[in-house]
Amino acid sequence: MNQPNLDRLQVFLDIATEAALAGGTVLKSLRGKLEDIQEKGRSGDLVTEADKQSEAEILKVLHRHLPEHQILAEESGALGNSDSEYLWAIDPLDGTTNYAHSLPIASTSVGLLIDGVPSVGVIYNPLSGELFRAAKGLPATCDRRPIKVSQTSELANSLLVTGFAYDRRETSDNNYAEFCHLTHLTQGVRRLGSAALDLAWLACGRYDGYWERGLSPWDIAAGVVIVEAAGGTITAYDGSPFELNSGRILATNGALHDNLSQALLETPALSSWK
Ligand code: IPD
Ligand code: CA
Ligand code: CA
Repeated sequence: MNQPNLDRLQVFLDIATEAALAGGTVLKSLRGKLEDIQEKGRSGDLVTEADKQSEAEILKVLHRHLPEHQILAEESGALGNSDSEYLWAIDPLDGTTNYAHSLPIASTSVGLLIDGVPSVGVIYNPLSGELFRAAKGLPATCDRRPIKVSQTSELANSLLVTGFAYDRRETSDNNYAEFCHLTHLTQGVRRLGSAALDLAWLACGRYDGYWERGLSPWDIAAGVVIVEAAGGTITAYDGSPFELNSGRILATNGALHDNLSQALLETPALSSWK
């Protein structure tokens, strides 16, 4: 199927916005009032009533407007028509650990893939009020004002962000070595705990680059659209084409891309820091 025209994409963008705001209203009202915080299986992987209620509100909006579409939602799994070329990837609360500790870095993330291509993205942090939006061919915005990636091209002048997946205690491929290496080469590497906001903040120039492994499609589907629409570049670590289901992403302002890719590939073993 060809990509829909811009009018149709704008309709999907508005529905995604309604859904992200509806989930965000739940997160705002439950802030600091959680009574049910559980681990989902892996140590540190939390789920709360806020995740569940936010997802229910997001799903209500999508079901009302687009009952024929397919959905992949973090807490409910696969829903809807599996033959549809439209797949919504939903994270009802990205940054659950932050939220459970009342750290105001958390978001709802609503992305739409069309024939597997990330095409619409909305990320809303209800705790700061910032709303990031984009669709393929439409400008990326924050609070309805256009945003652009930074122009930093040297690692020595860059500020990066990354994250550590919940399986970090079970694998030596846990990003610790990359974190040390890039911390050494740059002005700093932040780890703020919301992959969706990491991408949104890259898109508006606060960071120059982001990499992470162990991600799920709902963590990054919306953010990928926003970064690309803001002029950024998204690939695998080695610069080959990005695959949403690989769990790995290298996202930069474009100018820094080759340098960050090369540094990641040249990461020395952790033992060299002793
Ligand atoms: C997590 C956040 C975090 C990333 C983890 C994700 P959650 O999502 O995006 O930044 O490092 O890999 O699982 O659990 O808060 O929705
Ligand atoms: Ca997430
Ligand atoms: Ca989540």
